[in-house]
Amino acid sequence: MVNMDNVRLGVIGLGYVGLPLAVEFGKVLPTVGFDINARRIGELRDGVDHTLEVEPELLAEASQLSFESDIEALRACNVYIVTVPTPIDDNRSPDLTPLIKASETLGRVVSQGDVVIYESTVYPGATEEACIPVVERVSGLVYNRDFFAGYSPERINPGDKEHRVTTIMKVTSGSTPEVAEFVDALYRRVITAGTHLASSIAVAEAAKVIENTQRDVNIALVNELAVIFNRLGIDTEEVLQAAGTKWNFLPFRPGLVGGHCIGVDPYYLTHKAQQVGYHPEMILAGRRLNDGMGAYVASQLIKQMIKRRIHVEGARVLVMGLTFKENCPDLRNTRVVDIIAELADYNIAVDVHDPQVNKDEAEAEYGIRPVNAPDTGAYDAMILAVAHREFKALGADGIRAWGKPQHVLYDLKYALDKDSVDLRL
Ligand SMILES: NC(=O)c1ccc[n+]([C@@H]2O[C@H](COP(=O)([O-])OP(=O)(O)OC[C@H]3O[C@@H](n4cnc5c(N)ncnc54)[C@H](O)[C@@H]3O)[C@@H](O)[C@H]2O)c1
Repeated sequence: MVNMDNVRLGVIGLGYVGLPLAVEFGKVLPTVGFDINARRIGELRDGVDHTLEVEPELLAEASQLSFESDIEALRACNVYIVTVPTPIDDNRSPDLTPLIKASETLGRVVSQGDVVIYESTVYPGATEEACIPVVERVSGLVYNRDFFAGYSPERINPGDKEHRVTTIMKVTSGSTPEVAEFVDALYRRVITAGTHLASSIAVAEAAKVIENTQRDVNIALVNELAVIFNRLGIDTEEVLQAAGTKWNFLPFRPGLVGGHCIGVDPYYLTHKAQQVGYHPEMILAGRRLNDGMGAYVASQLIKQMIKRRIHVEGARVLVMGLTFKENCPDLRNTRVVDIIAELADYNIAVDVHDPQVNKDEAEAEYGIRPVNAPDTGAYDAMILAVAHREFKALGADGIRAWGKPQHVLYDLKYALDKDSVDLRL
């Protein structure tokens, strides 16, 4: 197996997860950052990370990191880390295509003694059942004799400058006890927060997928509570604050659950559960609840508009924020689009304003072109859907300047003072 002093690393897939990791390793050992997206490679070579996860000066610090879109550049590597996307398809089943393609790439470059490590979030068993056989088939090498594997899930939180790849404890695992020790030692070279060596690849895979499943189910619970409290005329945030004074009450807040992790990963687990004959109830109930929140938000707004005698058909509504979370440009699987689609069904004209997004990307992905600046005094309602710092800085008065004399200001994120808004989730 590879000697730790002689590691030449290849990171496959330079997105939100792969790039920060490649940069950290590129500070301490020879690292090739590989991506099939040649435009991404071109930008990175110019010192630009459009995901805003890595600042230009940090990119420059990784003196041993090179960016490549030619597979030949991977051939000299002896340890590989795969960080490609793991989305779901239209039927909400795992779409392993990027992982399979990356495994084919590995199969072409892997050689005797090499270690391939997967980081992408998957269901327990996926690495050894779905990926490794592809590497074996393409390479002609035998698993755990000629080459070895590891799995180490990523826990980064895009947009979060406090919890970064090096400061989050990392779970590691390997295909043999010796490989597990190697994988763990490799990550310890860059992860200052330390590592947790799991007993098997499947344990590490399961650990990751339940981290996000647990969040999803907990958010679903508070979403359900919000629906109940809205009917009872009780402010949900005030209830959660009161309950939160107990030491073991968990601080979840209601809201849309989008993005490529929390709203997606549970389906990886439920897929595997169904394969082995168990039909998950709670996990899928959570998914259903969370997926229904966009329509619920729209219905709450419509009711409030009617109460205020604002004519719904033909009204103009400003949706503030399109990304799936605050202070980052990530549009993947944003559920804000559910609110927009629902309002459009009522023949409401929706403008979207989001200072963080790339407008072309929003248009290409969702057919929605965010406005440059909202019109003053133009809207029957404003929905603060994403708590970007720009919106918080405006405050309720700043936002109300976009409203007609009679309007509704709906704060989904508890970003503004309770008394300064008309409606909260
Ligand atoms: N973004 C997060 O917050 C986060 C956190 C933890 C775990 N994860 C998991 O990490 C994995 C990667 O997520 P991400 O957010 O970095 O994805 P991403 O979409 O930001 O990046 C993936 C990159 O992989 C590249 N790619 C796709 N197929 C490839 C291939 N065959 N060969 C080489 N490159 C390829 C894409 O061009 C892209 O640049 C997923 O499994 C995700 O669930 C993500």
